[in-house]
Amino acid sequence: MTPAAVHTCAEPRPPHTPADSSGQRPPLYSLRNLVKEFDGPGEKVSVLQGLNLDIQEGESAAVVGASGSGKSTFLHILGTLAEPGGGELYFRGTNMRTLDAGAKARLRNESIGFVFQFHHLLPEFTTLENVAMQAVIGGCPMQAALDKAADILERVGLAGRARFAVGLLSGGERQRAAIARALMQDPVVLLADEPTGNLDEKNGMLVAELLVRLNAEQGTAMVVATHNPELAGRMARRFELKSGELYEQSR
Ligand SMILES: Nc1ncnc2c1ncn2[C@@H]1O[C@H](COP(=O)(O)OP(=O)(O)OP(=O)(O)O)[C@@H](O)[C@H]1O
Ligand SMILES: [Mg+2]
Repeated sequence: MTPAAVHTCAEPRPPHTPADSSGQRPPLYSLRNLVKEFDGPGEKVSVLQGLNLDIQEGESAAVVGASGSGKSTFLHILGTLAEPGGGELYFRGTNMRTLDAGAKARLRNESIGFVFQFHHLLPEFTTLENVAMQAVIGGCPMQAALDKAADILERVGLAGRARFAVGLLSGGERQRAAIARALMQDPVVLLADEPTGNLDEKNGMLVAELLVRLNAEQGTAMVVATHNPELAGRMARRFELKSGELYEQSR
């Protein structure tokens, strides 16, 4: 199937926010003094302590840091899956505080692709079904969703595994399937949490290559939490999360 024949089933949207009267475009993300703490047993755990950061459209960024430093928490907040405890988060100039739960869900569906730390694929369904499922639930006609999923699986090198139950895939193939699923809605940004965790070196490299290619060829912005220095080194910007603060590392 040629790409032109694929019904996208994604809401048409402008490639980025229109410029304001002075010709300025807002960044993809702006964080202003963003904080997050959790109620631990008996004491509060302060995870993010006043983050200030802009990420531009189409940028790629890695977040590294020790286990427990807050990388997943950070990605969940960027994905509006968790609320910050204070400070502001802007997505394309809109303050996330101004959106109700329904509007945030729409934003996630239309614009944000997640690759979770634990991939959450459904083992008894095929790879193709796993990739297509959310779009079908969202109202995309079944055949259109399957056609698009097949097209994406080809892009991530899994065409030959489309009809396998996910439970039969290798770890690396599952991780690529999780990336394929996140691409179904043509997201503006991909948030990937340890996409090469638990993979051997070769499969880790394949996933890293795939992310770099998506960023370069489709302009998909990405924020990738990783312990993998090789993957972090392939992103345009690198940050270390340490003691609740983000430190940008120079090259
Ligand atoms: N819902 C929660 N309630 C209480 N504490 C939490 C909760 N979620 C996370 N934490 C704590 O916040 C801290 C940061 O967790 P997070 O999962 O963001 O770390 P991480 O950097 O992703 O670690 P890893 O590299 O192991 O995945 C940890 O100390 C964790 O115990
Ligand atoms: Mg984590």
